[in-house]
Amino acid sequence: MATLPRVPLVISIRSSKCRLVAESSTHFSYLTLSSSSSSHSRNRKSLSLSAAMADSSSSSSTVLVTGAGGRTGQIVYKKLKESSLYVARGLVRTQESKESIGGADDLYVGDIRDESSIVPAVQGIDALIILTSAVPKMKAGFDPTKGGRPEFFFDEGAYPEQVDWIGQKNQIDAAKAAGVKQIVLVGSMGGTDLNHPLNKLGNGNILIWKRKAEQYLADSGVPYTIIRAGGLLDKEGGVRELLVGKDDELLKTETKSVPRADVAEVCIQALQFEESKNKAFDLASKAEGVGTPTKDFKAFFSQITTQF
Ligand SMILES: NC(=O)c1ccc[n+]([C@@H]2O[C@H](COP(=O)([O-])OP(=O)(O)OC[C@H]3O[C@@H](n4cnc5c(N)ncnc54)[C@H](OP(=O)(O)O)[C@@H]3O)[C@@H](O)[C@H]2O)c1
Repeated sequence: MATLPRVPLVISIRSSKCRLVAESSTHFSYLTLSSSSSSHSRNRKSLSLSAAMADSSSSSSTVLVTGAGGRTGQIVYKKLKESSLYVARGLVRTQESKESIGGADDLYVGDIRDESSIVPAVQGIDALIILTSAVPKMKAGFDPTKGGRPEFFFDEGAYPEQVDWIGQKNQIDAAKAAGVKQIVLVGSMGGTDLNHPLNKLGNGNILIWKRKAEQYLADSGVPYTIIRAGGLLDKEGGVRELLVGKDDELLKTETKSVPRADVAEVCIQALQFEESKNKAFDLASKAEGVGTPTKDFKAFFSQITTQF
């Protein structure tokens, strides 16, 4: 597909989740605080979008993003909808999620743990972007004023084994059966360290199960792009120099985080360049104002030499 001029737009979304990030010198951790008992606050967030300008007569490819109600998934879904290169589809887990991101007919409701429920969403798609994830919840009673660490748990049936392994495997299988031509999977840095603190969170071994799904994708025979993101930031996209790494080496540096908006853009750009295919890489960014913002994604993907 051709490289096209990109024009920044500004949109607003509503988010019903909050996030806690903790960093140490060698690790990042990421948590979504989610509670069935609390009512979610709805914050307006300003997102920077890039809209590809293209000849609308050119044939569009149909792209499904799963986890479309999630924080990165929402950005990808909106970018796809803004682009005339693509026909956007989203998969969300609940009707509530569907309504929260506009309720359009291109949003399918399905649970990735049940392959049959995602089959309708993958029919006729050209590409799949996987942005689902198990979400640890914080146990009640933690008081930050008293120090110590909060404890976390996963809902029964929603452990990383079920969501990040079985759920991602189901998506890969369903998309492959439907004839998908490319799968982009967003994973996480940290997967080379079995003892990474994130694995202890809620006894979920989340990075281990994510890594198993990445391997399954790499072995699937479907052209793939595996993006192992560093700590995700809710910051403006398109204004930072993006960094590519391998084997978690970036975790030992000061540059181990990346805006969700940039991860979303890399997902979309991966659909446009052959150089992105059959590659797996770590993704982080320099601080804003340091380095040169990444704009040439052909060169960006070309520098990646790692297949897993
Ligand atoms: N947070 C970080 O710092 C960090 C760092 C590195 C990598 N990552 C990875 O980056 C990716 C994006 O992160 P994010 O924070 O933007 O994601 P997020 O907001 O936590 O979204 C995850 C999405 O997965 C969906 N989901 C969970 N279980 C599902 C199921 N059974 N069926 C269908 N959908 C399901 C959730 O839907 P519901 O809301 O309806 O449950 C939610 O929309 C994730 O893979 C994450 O692990 C995150």
